[in-house]
Amino acid sequence: MGKKIKLFDPSVGFEEQQVTQQVLKSHFWASGAGIGYVKKFEDSFKKYIDSDDCIAVNSGTAALNLALSLMDLKGKEVIVPSLTFVATINAILLNGGKPVFVDVEPHTMCVDPNQIEKLITKKTKVILPVHYAGMSCSLDKIEQICKKNDLVLIEDAAHAAGAKFMGKRIGSHGIIVCFSFHPVKNLAMPTGGLIAINDSGHRKMRDVLLARRWCGITNRNNFGYDVKEAGWNYYMNEISAAIGLVQLKKLDAMNSIRRQIAKRYSKEINLEGKMPFDENCSYHLYWIMVKNRKRFMEKMFNAGIETGIHYRPVHTMSLYKKNVSLPMTETAGKEIVSIPVHQNLSDTKVDRIIRGINENA
Ligand SMILES: Cc1ncc(COP(=O)(O)O)c(C=O)c1O
Repeated sequence: MGKKIKLFDPSVGFEEQQVTQQVLKSHFWASGAGIGYVKKFEDSFKKYIDSDDCIAVNSGTAALNLALSLMDLKGKEVIVPSLTFVATINAILLNGGKPVFVDVEPHTMCVDPNQIEKLITKKTKVILPVHYAGMSCSLDKIEQICKKNDLVLIEDAAHAAGAKFMGKRIGSHGIIVCFSFHPVKNLAMPTGGLIAINDSGHRKMRDVLLARRWCGITNRNNFGYDVKEAGWNYYMNEISAAIGLVQLKKLDAMNSIRRQIAKRYSKEINLEGKMPFDENCSYHLYWIMVKNRKRFMEKMFNAGIETGIHYRPVHTMSLYKKNVSLPMTETAGKEIVSIPVHQNLSDTKVDRIIRGINENA
């Protein structure tokens, strides 16, 4: 058996180490009084995705919680996939809303736009799709549904840094788009997230979000500040932002390696159920569908290849338990397996992964 192959592995180069040292030595680790990396990261990411505004926070979870706090969700419904990380759904609950689960398409594992309209009621306020694995959902169709029914489109783009839809980067479409920069993500930081805004009212939204990002603090001046409503401590730190700026410079190159690997998987893995190849996808994950999943994952583990499950469908967990029929989501819940796809995989490792799957699935 060769060396263990990790499911996730961030790229850690000389530059990341250098900027970390620099921030450490500056003694200004938090934002605000720091060297200004957080603001620089916001500006650079805004330029990269071409959005109206960007607000950096300390996780994708914080981005979702904060973004949905703008929506006055009490007693309102949010249409959302169940095949996602629990943070997507928690953000709805914590803001007083009700998740209404929608099934996913078999080829993308993203929200099936044809299943949305029958779920819309008088209480529906938001549609919250997830760009699962970095594959964009059908944003054009979902945008049309939102327009027709006067709903707000908020995207969970935790997997989609660098992905595109119709020639434009994810982050430039929906009114609010939430990113995660968790260490396993395509753009990795020790901890980080971001809210992108595309709306003529973005300056007003920015002011509200900035206050809520740091304990509700407003009207800062040399002598103090005021608080008009409660907020959280969701600020990104300077070390994360500095690392994020380095990662952003190489994001396209890293995503291109992910895509080359995904292209090989889509051609060489002998399985019916597997992620298709798409030039616009950021391939945060690469999924396959395997009938005897537990045995398969054990065999892969014994061959030194890590695999994972993304995700157990949220509607099957105690807190969110719902009697809904989501056939594709439930099939994925039983059969989906994530295999390694990241910039640190050599051709030989990719060969080993493909061989392992073709022999054991
Ligand atoms: C789809 C999705 N949404 C939200 C999040 C939350 O991001 P974070 O871990 O940065 O809080 C994740 C992270 O795993 C995710 O995969």
